[in-house]
Amino acid sequence: MLRAILLFLSERETPKKILASPPAGRRLAARFIAGEDLESAVQIVRRLNDEGFEATLDYLGESVHDREAAAEAAKVYCSILDRLAVLQLRSNISVKLTQLGLDIGAEVAHRNLAMIWQAAAAHRIFVRIDMESSAYTQATLRVFHEAGAPREVLGVVIQSYLFRSAKDTDDLLAEGARIRLVKGAYKEPESLAYPDKADVDSSFVRLMQRLLSSGGYHAIATHDPAMIRATCEYARDKGIGSDRFEFQMLYGIRRDLQQQLLRQGYRVRIYVPYGKQWYSYFMRRLAERPANLLFVLRNLIRK
Ligand code: FDA
Repeated sequence: MLRAILLFLSERETPKKILASPPAGRRLAARFIAGEDLESAVQIVRRLNDEGFEATLDYLGESVHDREAAAEAAKVYCSILDRLAVLQLRSNISVKLTQLGLDIGAEVAHRNLAMIWQAAAAHRIFVRIDMESSAYTQATLRVFHEAGAPREVLGVVIQSYLFRSAKDTDDLLAEGARIRLVKGAYKEPESLAYPDKADVDSSFVRLMQRLLSSGGYHAIATHDPAMIRATCEYARDKGIGSDRFEFQMLYGIRRDLQQQLLRQGYRVRIYVPYGKQWYSYFMRRLAERPANLLFVLRNLIRK
């Protein structure tokens, strides 16, 4: 129930104005967001690299309805790619198609995505298309498919809470796609997604096994110790080396687990979001763990 309320608020303007107001807003955001500008994010990526982590940079933004803003986001991503290449940081990028204009039209998202993946290919940097709510699943998979980008340059995300994901995974694997597996972070109807955590988890384990057995290089993105244990055990039982897949986790969440996996010899990539449009991302993180609300209240009281 609380999860549903927080996800509802993540799409509303009034709570955004209250929460995002400085200075409490900035303090709140700092828990999960690497700063408002690229240089702050770059410093964090460098620190993570020094510690042994890989990274993926996300320039925050979604639901863009203005062509110029969508094209501007693509340009920002190209400058991020230049910066990562110059500094030789071990980081790729994650993009959202609604930030690149998917709501305006698939052709707009296509054009902006092409600008990004071609620049990324020139730098040999990988681009991951994040998966947004189920309203965009089909369109996102179509844009990914029609982009025609090499598989080592462009990949996509599958959410284990969606009923359709088993079939989507099979189709993507048949094309040789590189997949990031997540549970799913949006409010979805029971007609499309498992409402119970136990079912989402079982689906996650089934899909993880399918990915690891496929022979491709995929990412298992979760902070759930049970999912991580299932992955490590499956890989061990099937003789799949720890260099054949990677774990991914979000910046600011379960740092203990991130370090533990690294010490055990696994590749761990940290998703590092930065930028001023942090509200919706932040609310999804609260919805995942309502106990984080205490942290919000403490910061608002300090205002
Ligand atoms: P689960 O929610 O069961 O949490 C397991 C444990 O992790 C919790 O008990 C808690 O300890 C910890 N934890 C989880 N979330 C926390 C939080 N916010 N604050 C504090 N602790 C927390 N989703 C999506 O729909 N599209 C996408 O493209 C992506 N991309 C993505 C990339 C990466 C690298 C990650 C790690 C996640 C995503 N997600 C995503 C989000 C994903 O769908 C999911 O909502 C979160 O990862 C939380 O689910 P867990 O698998 O961690 O399990």
